[in-house]
Amino acid sequence: MSITRENVGQLAAEYADRQPQEILQLALDSFENIAISFSGAEDVVLVDMAVKIRPDVKVFSLDTARLHPETYRLLERVRERYGIAIEVMFPDAADVERLVQEKGLFSFYRDGHQECCGIRKVRPLRRKLDTLDAWITGQRRDQSPGTRAAIDVVEFDRAFSTEGHDLYKFNPLSNWTSAQVWQYIRSNDVPYNELHERGFVSIGCEPCTRPVLPNQHEREGRWWWEEATQKECGLHAANVSKD
Ligand code: ADX
Ligand code: SF4
Repeated sequence: MSITRENVGQLAAEYADRQPQEILQLALDSFENIAISFSGAEDVVLVDMAVKIRPDVKVFSLDTARLHPETYRLLERVRERYGIAIEVMFPDAADVERLVQEKGLFSFYRDGHQECCGIRKVRPLRRKLDTLDAWITGQRRDQSPGTRAAIDVVEFDRAFSTEGHDLYKFNPLSNWTSAQVWQYIRSNDVPYNELHERGFVSIGCEPCTRPVLPNQHEREGRWWWEEATQKECGLHAANVSKD
């Protein structure tokens, strides 16, 4: 059965309580032209699960040029371990040069992160998504009570679909907790980002990520100088515009 705007809501309800592997199976059975958006953090479990279904699954990563060395090392370990090509998307050089020339290398601490994320993450993501029919993310509901509490396992991507180009988005881990993700990583000997050994939970760019203390919410380690409830960088823009 093909996924359409009309039946996607019903499928999301049907798969709401299924395991990530079943949701990935649905995603890969439904779309040939689909890829995993891999951040170099805990979403590595998606890669481990997906290669067991489709060994040459497409994976891409957005290299903002501000990632931690540990994240680059994980990308490489994942590439070698699973024998997959990871497509690395870079931001437009002229856009970055203009931003840095005008505002310096740390403008996000002063102006907020949206402009820099727009250039370094969202535009390259849009460029990639324009070539796909569907994408797979590692978003989970427990990552952000403010913005991710309602994400479905599969949805029509209102933020990145364009006129004449429908895009679907799968969030196979949406119902899993952090504890389940880590249980999976340990049981399956999945390579993980070394930063997790040093108190980092949610991992993004180096200047915008910090470790959290025991029982602090993971999102408090991201863009900590900004208001706590709306911490989205635009990759998952629909999360903050939902009615
Ligand atoms: S973010 O929007 O705040 O940066 P987060 O770090 O929680 O996102 O990651 C959620 C999901 O967004 C990841 O599992 C991944 O699918 C996607 N994502 C985030 N950052 C990247 C990146 N640099 N490259 C590719 N995908 C990413
Ligand atoms: Fe820029 Fe920080 Fe966003 Fe990375 S997370 S793109 S460094 S504002």
